[in-house]
Amino acid sequence: MKNTPKVIIDLMDMADLPEILAIERESFPSPWTVGMFTRELNSSHSLCIAARIKVEGKSIIGAYIIFWLIADEVHLHNLAVKKEYRRQGLAFKLMEAMKEIAGKNEITAQTLEVRESNTEAIKLYQKCGFVVKGIRPLYYTDTHEDALIMWADINNNSKTR
Ligand SMILES: CC(C)(COP(=O)(O)OP(=O)(O)OC[C@H]1O[C@@H](n2cnc3c(N)ncnc32)[C@H](O)[C@@H]1OP(=O)(O)O)[C@@H](O)C(=O)NCCC(=O)NCCS
Repeated sequence: MKNTPKVIIDLMDMADLPEILAIERESFPSPWTVGMFTRELNSSHSLCIAARIKVEGKSIIGAYIIFWLIADEVHLHNLAVKKEYRRQGLAFKLMEAMKEIAGKNEITAQTLEVRESNTEAIKLYQKCGFVVKGIRPLYYTDTHEDALIMWADINNNSKTR
C-alpha cells in the first residue's frame, strides 16, 4: 500500500488547466471542456479547489473539486482524482474542505448528483454522510443513466464568526 502523500489544498487557477483537463479526460465519459472550467474559475458563486502533491520537489495536481455556494446550499459540480493517486484519501479530504468552507459561509446543506453506476463515488459520498433523496431519470445524456440526488446536512458547530 502506498503512503498517503503530503497534500496542500488551495485554489485552482488558469495555469492549472492543462493538468486538470488531463485528469478530467481520464475520469469521465463526457469530460468538461476548457471553456467549462474557465467559466467556473470566473464565476462568483463557484469555488474551484485543487489538491496539490509534492513529487520529487515538484508540485503536481492530484485531485480537484468544484462546487457552488448558493443561498443555504452547497452544490458539488465536479470532483476527480488522478488515477495513480486514487484510494489515498484525496477525494475525502476535498469533500471535507468543501464542507468546512460551506460551514463558514452559514450553509447548512450539501447536495450533488451522481451516476447510479458510479459505486466508488457513491461509497465516498456515503462515507461523507450523504444519503440518496431522489432520482433524476435519464439525467446523463451520454449514457442515458439516471442520477441519484444525494444530500447531507452540515453541522455548523465549527462556524467561525
Ligand atoms: C470517486 C473518486 C473521486 C474517489 O476518489 P479517491 O481519492 O480514490 O477516494 P478516497 O481515497 O478519498 O476514498 C474515500 C472513500 O470513498 C470510497 N471509495 C473510493 N474509491 C473506492 C473504490 N474504488 N471502491 C470502493 N470504495 C471506494 C471508500 O468508502 C473510501 O473510504 P475507505 O478508503 O475508508 O474505504 C475517484 O475514484 C475518481 O476520481 N473517480 C472518477 C471521477 C468520478 O467518478 N468523480 C465523481 C463524480 S460524481
